[in-house]
Amino acid sequence: MKLWDKGIATNELVEQFTVGLDREMDLYLAPFDVMGTMAHITMLQTIGLLEKNELDTLLAELKKIYATAAAGKLKIEDDVEDIHSQVELMLTRSLGDMGKKVHSGRSRNDQVLVDMKLYLRHEVRQIFDLAASLFKTLIALSDKHKDDLMPGYTHLQVAMPSSFGLWFGAYAECLTDDLRMLSAAYKVINQNPLGSAAGYGSSFPLNRTLTTKLLGFSDLNYNVVCAQMGRGKTEQDLSFAMAAMAQTLSRMAMDMCMYNSQDLGFVHLPDEFTTGSSIMPHKKNPDVWELVRGKCNRIKALPTDITLTISNLPSGYHRDLQLLKEQIIPAINDLKDCLRLAELMLKNTEVRKDIMKEPKYQLAFSVEVVNKLVLSGVPFRDAYKQVAFDIKDGRFVPETHINHTHEGSIGNLCNDQIDRKFAEVSASFDFASVEAAVNSLVK
Ligand code: ARG
Repeated sequence: MKLWDKGIATNELVEQFTVGLDREMDLYLAPFDVMGTMAHITMLQTIGLLEKNELDTLLAELKKIYATAAAGKLKIEDDVEDIHSQVELMLTRSLGDMGKKVHSGRSRNDQVLVDMKLYLRHEVRQIFDLAASLFKTLIALSDKHKDDLMPGYTHLQVAMPSSFGLWFGAYAECLTDDLRMLSAAYKVINQNPLGSAAGYGSSFPLNRTLTTKLLGFSDLNYNVVCAQMGRGKTEQDLSFAMAAMAQTLSRMAMDMCMYNSQDLGFVHLPDEFTTGSSIMPHKKNPDVWELVRGKCNRIKALPTDITLTISNLPSGYHRDLQLLKEQIIPAINDLKDCLRLAELMLKNTEVRKDIMKEPKYQLAFSVEVVNKLVLSGVPFRDAYKQVAFDIKDGRFVPETHINHTHEGSIGNLCNDQIDRKFAEVSASFDFASVEAAVNSLVK
């Protein structure tokens, strides 16, 4: 079944190649496709293209289809090429000619564009919720372990005293910056492209302001050519935010793999959170963190991947854009999994206390000794030299009573300030008004 069937069968290979992964990818768009149609036909009735009784009948049927799609039960039949065709087919099957009226004044380019915006908006909320939960766990762990020291490294060489409080809190603060990127992408996403039709608008007097309101978008993509160019650009903007978050997670994962090794042994993973080896009976590997690292490193390539897909495309719709779905949808799923698993692992990680009492970390206190001399009146460079010679001659005695007080240091983590920044960025997402609009459309 093809919406554009004119009685000539398409070559089978051409058919397979052009449909590609759409039948799988479009299932992610299913509830949003139905939602878009509900808003579109509600608007069509206001401009005289549907009777009120037709609208009511169509909406009632679409609500049923929506419920099936939202429950993940909608299927795209074997000979149907995409979700847009499937929904129109279902409507026509149950309502006859009335079902054939819903496509006035729009095109599938328009549909997939609005579907993607609605889907991405929904996914941003999921990503936000998972990141927010991870943030809270990190802050709680930071507070709990504020007095548990560990060595800080530069060049992978023992450098200065750090703490688990500082380490956990660092990732919490980095996540707030990633959420700023996500918030910027969300603002781009949350604009209505519907009504651009094939990319050049329609001679019907479409009320795009109404569909904007019905779908809970905060604004319109006014210029229809710009709206069409949003396909790809929107995915690209979101991919930058995803890559930023992936950067934070992959670094955390690498730290965890190292800290968990027998050589450092700063943390311990309970057996249920490790995997074994088929040959080495003793192994308890941190595979979760390794996969988080690997998946997140791949997500860092997503902006490049998307950028190349849309490079040199002139304005207007091109079938290349279909490939964006198979780039961004699996990446979103991966990022959500990584956020979920990172939090699970952190919550189940035991932190080793008294690491700094080990003699091999004594030199991490060298700057503390230098600073103590400075406070007693010795100029910094002279104090530095004195300590250097003490170390060289085996006379160095570490100063383990440390007193760091400035903002963001081991003695003054400022987690309340990091919390404040998190609250600020959280307030920039208007999930509640979106949810209210969507619920009144589909329920
Ligand atoms: N599957 C297509 C996509 O994702 C839907 C739009 C098809 N439009 C067209 N003119 N062939 O881009």
